[in-house]
Amino acid sequence: MSKLAAIILAAGKGTRMKSKLPKVLHQVGGKAMLQHVLDVADAISCTKKVVVVGHEAELVEAMVGSQADIAMQKEQLGTGHAVMQAQANLQDFDGTTMIICGDTPLLEATELEKFYQEHLKTGAVASVLSAVMANPFGYGRIVRDENNNVVAIVEEKDATAEQKAIKEINTGIYCVDNKALFEVLQTLTCDNAQGEYYLTDVLAKLHVQGKKVAGVITEDSDMIMGINSRKQLAEAESIMRIRILDKLMDAGVTIMDPASTFVEKTVVVAPDTVIYPYTWLEGNTTIGEDCQIGPNVRLTNVKVGNNTNLQFVYGHDCKVGNGVTVGPYVHLRPDTVISDNVKIGNFVEVKNSNIGEGSKLPHLTYIGDSDIGSGVNIGCGCISVNYDGKNKYRTVVKDNAFIGCNTNLVAPVTVEKGAYVGAGSTITKDVPENALGIARAKQKNLEDWVKKD
Ligand code: UD1
Ligand code: CA
Repeated sequence: MSKLAAIILAAGKGTRMKSKLPKVLHQVGGKAMLQHVLDVADAISCTKKVVVVGHEAELVEAMVGSQADIAMQKEQLGTGHAVMQAQANLQDFDGTTMIICGDTPLLEATELEKFYQEHLKTGAVASVLSAVMANPFGYGRIVRDENNNVVAIVEEKDATAEQKAIKEINTGIYCVDNKALFEVLQTLTCDNAQGEYYLTDVLAKLHVQGKKVAGVITEDSDMIMGINSRKQLAEAESIMRIRILDKLMDAGVTIMDPASTFVEKTVVVAPDTVIYPYTWLEGNTTIGEDCQIGPNVRLTNVKVGNNTNLQFVYGHDCKVGNGVTVGPYVHLRPDTVISDNVKIGNFVEVKNSNIGEGSKLPHLTYIGDSDIGSGVNIGCGCISVNYDGKNKYRTVVKDNAFIGCNTNLVAPVTVEKGAYVGAGSTITKDVPENALGIARAKQKNLEDWVKKD
């Protein structure tokens, strides 16, 4: 089996982004551009990956972590010079090296795999992935001979008028025999319009040596889009967004208004769920089937079961079961677990709490650091008083208890099974099973108080 390595170029500054963040760390679809490229390299089974870093190297290195080797390019002297920096990492590698830019977040693994297979099939020592563009301005142009082999790649700034008319462009993605690549790199010079070591010259030099250099044309010109500016970043974002939504729709999810629906690549949604407008689904969010999500829902790392209905909800790092209704205007905070068939109504916040099966929190309530059993009814305006200014304590309300409206449950406190709490109580002591706990001032009526003068 032939072996594949990847060199990912990520040393450039990305001046046109006008950002303190290195270009490749800007996000598309909720992930750094460089992460998308690393993921694609994994998907095509690259045995070794080397990321060439330079500008803000520490930040890029930190993002890469243990996912790839790092090669340092201290000065950005051109794409050829960048690849040279990976020599030490790949000196013992015997196989094909694919060179990819770190700022191409829309790459698709299937297309790259096709390119690699084509490269192997032609037996070329090097292949370039090219595309035919109506407006090729700014790209390197592919010059071919009468046998259709690639003779050279000419940069816009170095091109003659005749070469500028060529519509086939260099995407900046190559497959090269690793040994040949590093041999030829030694001989590069920088006598060109930009005074840089051009990686593209490697292909011309291989051709001059009488070796076969192939050009493989891709039909998908969105895929190879390199991001240089914020405007292109937004374009890539919207292309990726549509791709993700198309996949979900193909898999049986209804999306009422793709223009106002934002779903990250990592999110999973089961069939027959309907997503209403103005919905954001992010991170490791998973949603079951037959749910209604939205309008105006934002979920980050939330696991939702089947048949659940969320509207006007912000939830993060929590779990919602089956047959649950939540909203409008609800905040579900981290470490919350909402069991099946729970109803949470308007203006409710739940944090670090478990809400048992079939319980109801219909209106205007804060539940924090609490364990609420099943079949519990929490009346309007109840508050778990979980914080004494220094420490947080838990509130426990056991199965089938009934908490009257406007109750403060001062933690640590437990309301036992089937107990009732009278409306307006501030409960500081445990309430025994089946008891009524009531803690409020007795009402006094002053007769004829209004008439008194
Ligand atoms: C390059 C190609 C051009 C192609 C285009 C596709 C060359 C000489 N030209 O041009 O034919 O059409 O890409 O987008 O290769 N980088 C480094 N270190 C450097 C220089 C660049 O890491 O010293 C990285 C950049 O961060 C970027 C990539 O290499 O990710 C491409 O560099 P860039 O300067 O954008 O190349 P282009 O001029 O666009
Ligand atoms: Ca560029």
